Amino acid sequence: MQKGLIVGAIGLALAGALIGSVAVAQGDPIAARKDNRKQAGAQMKAIKGIVDAKGPASGVVPAAAKLKELSLAFPALFPAGSDKGETKALPVVWTDMPGFTAANKAEAAAIDALAVAAASGDMAKVGEAFGNAAKTCGACHDKFRAK
Ligand code: HEC
Repeated sequence: MQKGLIVGAIGLALAGALIGSVAVAQGDPIAARKDNRKQAGAQMKAIKGIVDAKGPASGVVPAAAKLKELSLAFPALFPAGSDKGETKALPVVWTDMPGFTAANKAEAAAIDALAVAAASGDMAKVGEAFGNAAKTCGACHDKFRAK
């Protein structure tokens, strides 16, 4: 009986969390995607600090994991209609969704490579992978974000 209650409560909590995240995506996707990218910017800054300090590579591991999570969540924050408002996302995001998704996938792949480099402990590799990841940010911004 008690077990059933607990399972029920967990189910409710999960449903609540799901509804919560859908509300964020539908309610204010512009704010949600800006927040997503602000967090990505903060992770990149933290990684740059480690690269400049020449280590430790282990510090890059959690930052890369967080970046990956943010990257995976990002494309869903561009539902139809969210091109209007306080946004720098260009109309081409919606007219060339495959191109936008590809730019997002390139970012995710570069972050995966960064995670592998971080796990290797080799800061030269981390520095190179970090530079490559940063390029994928710029590549998407050049095409899909207003200056
Ligand atoms: C797939 C495309 C894409 C990739 C990849 C991408 N961005 Fe962006 N980024 C955007 C778009 C589009 C906006 C504008 C969002 C808006 O204003 O609605 C943006 C906005 C931002 C902003 C401004 C957020 C704000 O407060 O308004 C920052 C900071 C940012 N990106 C950092 C990064 C970093 C760092 C990376 C790489 C780790 C990155 N972005 C990768 C598309 C991308």
